Amino acid sequence: MHPTIYLAPIQGITDRIYRNLFSVYFRGVDAAFAPFISPSKKMKPDNPQIRELEPDLNTGVPVIPQIMTSSPEDFTALANDLFEMGYGTVNWNLGCPFRMVVKKGRGAGMLCHPDRIESFLEKTIPVLKPKLSIKLRTGLKCSDEALRLIPIFNRFDLDDLIIHPRTAAQMYGGDVDLEMFERCLNLSKHRVVYNGDIYSMEDFNTLASRFQQVKTWMIGRGLIGNPFLAEEIKSDIKKTRHEKVQIIREFHDHLFEEYSKILSGPAHITNKMKEIWTYMAGFSENAEKIRKKINKTHHRDAYIGVVNKIFDELV
Ligand SMILES: Cc1cc2nc3c(=O)[nH]c(=O)nc-3n(C[C@H](O)[C@H](O)[C@H](O)COP(=O)(O)O)c2cc1C
Repeated sequence: MHPTIYLAPIQGITDRIYRNLFSVYFRGVDAAFAPFISPSKKMKPDNPQIRELEPDLNTGVPVIPQIMTSSPEDFTALANDLFEMGYGTVNWNLGCPFRMVVKKGRGAGMLCHPDRIESFLEKTIPVLKPKLSIKLRTGLKCSDEALRLIPIFNRFDLDDLIIHPRTAAQMYGGDVDLEMFERCLNLSKHRVVYNGDIYSMEDFNTLASRFQQVKTWMIGRGLIGNPFLAEEIKSDIKKTRHEKVQIIREFHDHLFEEYSKILSGPAHITNKMKEIWTYMAGFSENAEKIRKKINKTHHRDAYIGVVNKIFDELV
């Protein structure tokens, strides 16, 4: 049986336009997680972050919205609104490592407070209309904090438990802690999803043979850099390098066209595309060179010229 593959949420990249177009050009992803929304009491239904999730505008693979808050009331209000919009599952972010977020006790800032997590779940689960999945790191500063959380999660009816085995202190670097992932996996009664540093077929095969109980995998940076990875994991048919570059070029041009419609001002569009290239350049062996060339462009026309040259040289 094929593994299930989720596209990870990457704030600033995997927005509605990216997710929709990704599924036009690439196969193999079963669902995409939207980057987090931080709800507030003042949030209105016409809030742009909620409008991004309008089902009519999300035409690609199924989407799972993500919410980041420590307030059970704010979480429930937004999650139940999302349920009315058609979302059967929402995800709770317990992994965001940024200082301001952690300081407010949200995201990974909650990991060292099992009592708060327990109370959050006691308050939300009975009144929550959609199913709840949780995405967490293994700790804020120490990798074993999750070990105290899994027995709490086990008491509740949850959907996926997505584990990125890094501490928040590590941000997105350093090694993933596979031993800690294994301990969480063995403790959990929920379906555990592995997330972190899958960049190639070899990475996937190594993890899949070590964690045979895991059937669902979440991939972020690896899929943005190599958008064929999910389909390669699921199928033996491999595209040639020429075909791949051609498809990535079409995907890029389509992204550029769609973002140009909504971003005004020459710097907005080039900044947006530069952010995407931070990870997308990973498909080439010359990723660093490509990023440098693109980062030097500041105007739309210069950007188009540089990108065309890069793609011409790659095919
Ligand atoms: C720029 C950036 C933005 C991210 N935004 C989110 C987010 O909104 N929600 C979330 O749960 N994780 C977010 N993540 C974490 C990824 O979803 C993922 O857990 C992490 O990158 C590890 O997986 P990977 O190695 O496959 O990329 C972000 C990561 C990066 C690098």
